[in-house]
Amino acid sequence: MKVNVVDHPLVKHKLTIMRQTDTGPKEFRELLKEITLLIAYEATRHIEIFETEIETPLETTKGYYINDKDVVIVPILRAGLGMADGILQLLPNASVGHIGIYRDPKTLEAIEYYSKLPSLKQTSQIFVLDPMLATGVSSVKAIEIVKEHGGKKIVLVTLIASPEGVRVVNEHCPDVIIYTASLDRKLNDKGYILPGLGDAGDRLFRTK
Ligand code: URA
Repeated sequence: MKVNVVDHPLVKHKLTIMRQTDTGPKEFRELLKEITLLIAYEATRHIEIFETEIETPLETTKGYYINDKDVVIVPILRAGLGMADGILQLLPNASVGHIGIYRDPKTLEAIEYYSKLPSLKQTSQIFVLDPMLATGVSSVKAIEIVKEHGGKKIVLVTLIASPEGVRVVNEHCPDVIIYTASLDRKLNDKGYILPGLGDAGDRLFRTK
């Protein structure tokens, strides 16, 4: 199984609060944003950097910059929206695309109901955001949509992943690198992650 777990003490601490039933939407949203920023710090480790020459007050020296105008963030609706601000704080010039997917209750197939992506180049560094990597079906579908639009360099950023979901993404998208704050135990028979944190979308938007 190929997955990068960002198990920094700050991430563990914040995720522990998020998991708890009595953590309300305000705190849940803030923590999701903060953890995403911390995961993004690791997930951007291999982003391309460019050399430049700069003047300090004392002399000319080499400097480095990243081209965050060639970064595209793609939250999967709707829970992925809760991760967008955290990563945008680090990469403020990134473009943001959106993909909406639902599961057909009969066939369990992932159906795209919305997508709006900026133009993607082969060099574009793309971060697909999906807080709960459960069955992996939505993530794989979103990655396929990004690839159909020309995306090549894709990182999947999740908050909690199941072993089942990681395997599905590894199998269907072996080129995609996965980052998560936690690899949890397993899925239950309704497709929820155990121990997980329940429905991330409902907790973010207080829809239950
Ligand atoms: N989506 C969620 O929000 N939670 C899960 O546990 C699985 C999928």
